[in-house]
Amino acid sequence: MILTEIDHVAIAVYDLDKAVSYYQKAFGAKVHHREVVESDGVEEALIKVADSYIQLTTATHDDSPIAKFLEKRGEGLHHIGYRVDNCEEALQAMIDAGARPIDLAPRPGSRGTTVAFIHPKGSQGTLIELVEE
Ligand code: CO
Repeated sequence: MILTEIDHVAIAVYDLDKAVSYYQKAFGAKVHHREVVESDGVEEALIKVADSYIQLTTATHDDSPIAKFLEKRGEGLHHIGYRVDNCEEALQAMIDAGARPIDLAPRPGSRGTTVAFIHPKGSQGTLIELVEE
């Protein structure tokens, strides 16, 4: 088994401050990390739960994939991040198993991670992100 942890559950939201405040009120949640990833057109707030995160994500501009997702489907579950020890090996294993990669090679993600995305088509309708810390 090459997955070591559920790294994060990513939820697309219209208003990041509103979503954070909802999680604060409902769960007493504290934001562990907040970051704009300009290359992906997203701003995210990470709430730590044990060794995993809830990643509340919003778009920073109208062309961002998250903006398109929100326009099409509204707020909701966007992707699951699976933690691995080696992103490159995990990506290759998924390709060998028949997955459709979005990233052909690992690239930098938020909080200093290395990531690669796998298309939902071919992976049971779930957008998967492989995350190496
Ligand atoms: Co993610």
